[in-house]
Amino acid sequence: MQTVELRHASRLVNHGPTVLVGSAHGGRRNLMAAAWSMPVEFTPPRIVVVIDKSTFTRGLVTASGQFVLSVPGRHQADLVYTLGSESGEAADKFARYGLAADAGPVLGLPLLQGCGAHLECRLIEEPHAQAAYDCFFGEVVSAQADERIFGNGHWLVPTADNADLHTLHHLGAGLFGVASEAVQARMLT
Ligand SMILES: Cc1cc2nc3c(=O)[nH]c(=O)nc-3n(C[C@H](O)[C@H](O)[C@H](O)COP(=O)(O)O)c2cc1C
Repeated sequence: MQTVELRHASRLVNHGPTVLVGSAHGGRRNLMAAAWSMPVEFTPPRIVVVIDKSTFTRGLVTASGQFVLSVPGRHQADLVYTLGSESGEAADKFARYGLAADAGPVLGLPLLQGCGAHLECRLIEEPHAQAAYDCFFGEVVSAQADERIFGNGHWLVPTADNADLHTLHHLGAGLFGVASEAVQARMLT
């Protein structure tokens, strides 16, 4: 993984990939899938993610004031679907599925190995947005990406060599589209 400059961090989720929300508090840690996240500011980089009231993640994020968005690749589709279909409240998902994580460089949050990118975020307290719309805003305080898929502040052209890291886009009911082709737009003249 390489460090991504914070001014480029929003590009990591600009294209709307399904992400994993990582959280930790009081000796517990967790991962859930989220299809609803997006950047809302370049500098400082800020993002928003919807975290439903029913989730175990929500309590950990609220209590700790932080979370991490990890961007999984196509090789993790089954895992993403599973992490988004079960609660981690009763059983630790890392232990149950043998998941390995590294500690985030700024907040120490669990960064699931094998993902294409990670964004550690400090929660921005917006109680009304949380209560009314389940929207959790965060300021990105560290960003990193796998150099096979992201370099010089940009996603790289998807190829067969980085196919494992092509991002997942949820179509519903466990069916994902995969971002496997790039089209360079030109201004019309
Ligand atoms: C592909 C996918 C995308 C999802 N997107 C979201 C989302 O954006 N927001 C949300 O609150 N739940 C979303 N979910 C549901 C949560 O991931 C699910 O409720 C999960 O079991 C919560 O885990 P937890 O209780 O361990 O936190 C999604 C599920 C899947 C499978």
